[in-house]
Amino acid sequence: MAQEDVFKKLVSHCKEYGFVFPSSEIYDGLGAVYDYGQNGVELKNNIKQYWWQSMVLLHDNIVGIDSAIFMHPTIWKASGHVDAFNDPLIDNRDSKKRYRADVLIEDQIAKYDEKINKEVAKAAKKYGEAFNEQEFRSTNARVLEHQAKRDALHERYTQAMNAGPDLNELRQIILDEEIVCPISGTKNWTEVRQFNLMFSTEMGSTADGAMKVYLRPETAQGIFVNYLNVQKTGRMKIPFGIAQIGKAFRNEIVARQFIFRMREFEQMEMQFFVKPGTELDWFKKWKEIRLRWHKALGFGDDHYRYHDHEKLAHYANAATDIEFLMPFGFKEVEGIHSRTNFDLSQHEKFSGKSIKYFDPEINESYTPYVIETSIGVDRMFLSVMSAAYCEEKLENGETRVVLKLPAALAPVKLAVMPLVKKDGLPEKAREIMNDLKFHFHCQYDEKDSIGKRYRRQDAIGTPYCVTVDHQTLEDNCVTLRNRDTMEQTRVPVAELNNIIADKVSITSLLKTLQ
Ligand code: GAP
Repeated sequence: MAQEDVFKKLVSHCKEYGFVFPSSEIYDGLGAVYDYGQNGVELKNNIKQYWWQSMVLLHDNIVGIDSAIFMHPTIWKASGHVDAFNDPLIDNRDSKKRYRADVLIEDQIAKYDEKINKEVAKAAKKYGEAFNEQEFRSTNARVLEHQAKRDALHERYTQAMNAGPDLNELRQIILDEEIVCPISGTKNWTEVRQFNLMFSTEMGSTADGAMKVYLRPETAQGIFVNYLNVQKTGRMKIPFGIAQIGKAFRNEIVARQFIFRMREFEQMEMQFFVKPGTELDWFKKWKEIRLRWHKALGFGDDHYRYHDHEKLAHYANAATDIEFLMPFGFKEVEGIHSRTNFDLSQHEKFSGKSIKYFDPEINESYTPYVIETSIGVDRMFLSVMSAAYCEEKLENGETRVVLKLPAALAPVKLAVMPLVKKDGLPEKAREIMNDLKFHFHCQYDEKDSIGKRYRRQDAIGTPYCVTVDHQTLEDNCVTLRNRDTMEQTRVPVAELNNIIADKVSITSLLKTLQ
């Protein structure tokens, strides 16, 4: 199945099974804003718990906070977001549609890549086993021509972005490449302008002199401005970290690929404060720790790669992304940044307050350096869903859709089902559920045939199903079905908790990280 189709199926699966709904759907939706349904919220909460516990429980030098979304507007001046958190935008005069100039150019680069890949795929089909891809790529005239155009464009684009960006040059590239508006099909473009991504609103009544405030575009600044509070009240010694999970807002112009790029989303960020000069060692450590966290989910190491940044923000001295293989290619899920002492120094400068750390080991005060790990909950959710979504052909010729979610993240851990709705089986099933519901999330289901009920649970990724039958009333044993193997075993009711609890707990997942 083409990856595009997989993605479409995933999006409709998310809706059909109560994972993700378009926001305000009965009013035709709101662009790039989504709601999480009954199963989505459980999966999302489990992802957040996995992250939070891996930070705060497993590291005795990391603590959490929950700062407000609204913050003093000067914070965003200090952090550079007011002046520089911009996207270069261009309008098409005919369709009146607005685009990100950088995205139009990146799409054009991707088109050259596509052309090259098509030539390679065609030749691979033609020559079969004898095909030498490397040789073909380095000798075929058409491939070389596309490659040369692609590389020249990439070089020109990189230079334009590095120069500020150079807005005139970005426009010129769009004209020279003859990029057309996908709606009107014309090249009738306006100038390129910078557009700030922060949402703003007014705080207080106008009569009192309302203050313009922003909806935070990242949670990190809430950590920076609380650095001293936490360090002092928690008597924290460097190195130490502060973790936070919370909403962030960006007025994304090109919002696409479902929950990959949203206007309201959630971040899980951790700022790790270190002694200047040690930051690159810590950067390396956090790169490894974070990749291990991802890989522990068991989707396969080939689903991940680092993307080290060549172009660094002026305040960073190292940065990398952890990319995940989504149905639309490798994409950033998490950023790990060595942010020097930029943010704390800026807040010192703008607030006029000292944010220094007195280091008793060297008898000196300094502004700590920071390693940041920043992951989007929604992107993580998308990566988990896309890796878990599976269509399997069964022996009887039917197809089952199954979400092979890591058991610890699954919204429902166990479904309890009476074989029939009579003869005391529902009561027995309820009794089992009433006992187990204190240990993990269970669901009771008595409607339809047992086969249909299994399919429903497969579709939401429930790792275990228990069936209560007439025999259960006699021997107090049930049939336990495994989602992935579909194997069924007979087990005593009294052992259910022992068998399941460990396998579905976040604690077990966390233990694999040690
Ligand atoms: N404090 C650093 C920071 O915010 P970022 O690379 O802009 O860095 C970090 O964002 C992570 O937040 C990204 O790796 C991504 O997972 C998530 N993220 C950023 N913008 C997003 C958006 N519009 N929709 C969904 N997730 C987003």
